[in-house]
Amino acid sequence: MRFTVDDEPVEAEPRPGQCLRTLLRETGHFEVKKGCDAGDCGACSVLVDGVPLHSCVYPALRVDGRAVTTAAGLGTPDALGPVQQSFVDHAGFQCGFCTAGMVVTASTLTPDQLPDLPRLMKGNLCRCTGYRSIREAIAGAGADADRAGPSHGVGHSVAAPAGRRVVAGREPYTLDVALPGTLHLVVLRSPHAHARIRSIDTSAAAALPGVVRVFTSADAPSTAFSTARHAQRFDDPDDTYVLDRVVRFRGQRVAAVVAESVAVAEAPSSMVRVPIVAFGGCGSGPQAGSWSFSTVRRVTPVPSMKALNRPPRSLW
Ligand code: FES
Ligand code: FES
Repeated sequence: MRFTVDDEPVEAEPRPGQCLRTLLRETGHFEVKKGCDAGDCGACSVLVDGVPLHSCVYPALRVDGRAVTTAAGLGTPDALGPVQQSFVDHAGFQCGFCTAGMVVTASTLTPDQLPDLPRLMKGNLCRCTGYRSIREAIAGAGADADRAGPSHGVGHSVAAPAGRRVVAGREPYTLDVALPGTLHLVVLRSPHAHARIRSIDTSAAAALPGVVRVFTSADAPSTAFSTARHAQRFDDPDDTYVLDRVVRFRGQRVAAVVAESVAVAEAPSSMVRVPIVAFGGCGSGPQAGSWSFSTVRRVTPVPSMKALNRPPRSLW
């Protein structure tokens, strides 16, 4: 398959089901950030033939013969594009993790669309700046703003030192640093709100090439802790282990896979079988069953007051 990234030709063979984000990062495009990986945050935004989309939920195969543009293709730290320059001038970021995706989406907007900004930018979330400065950055793109620089000093806004690299997607974040020999850990979480795990069969997962270790409650330290500490110490008993055999909320950690790559660590998730006794909502009895981590079942997480008041270590 052939396509272009920022006008550079690329030849690649995506794996079945591979998303565009992983393909781009595997070819060195770390300006495409890995955020939620679920199509929610927009950190991975790119343009495909000029249309902004979330590359983490976009099949890589679909870019065959098409043009992909990343934040790095909109400008360089020495020659920023208008939107990138405006984000620097208006301090449209703090940590900057969302910014490469923000500028990609914002680069497609025209002045007459500004009144509709919240809807048009709803696919790009920022966890730290607040949206006022982002709105000002997008609204001010191309305007003659007060371009602050480190040399202005007292009485003037001082631009973020890494700002020009941030808006061009060139500032590396933790996941953008590939250290040789790094192992990757994927946590497998419960799809049930309330269950007791009878056993976990990890043999198939552990046998996969590239899997270094699969951890379960059998490997967890025997120090229990509370997941909710309130003013009264005994309101919230120490009743949880790092990896527990009792599940009390959907999403609770159940097992962890350590592997040589993220892809390998994620692969065994459907191979770990977990026989359980599952509980539904208030008043429902136990039901034997099992789940694999690829299965998400609907549950009704309504604990009774009696259950909440149980003494220190409840196995149910
Ligand atoms: S990483 Fe793609 S939308 Fe969050
Ligand atoms: S600037 Fe930190 S997430 Fe947006």
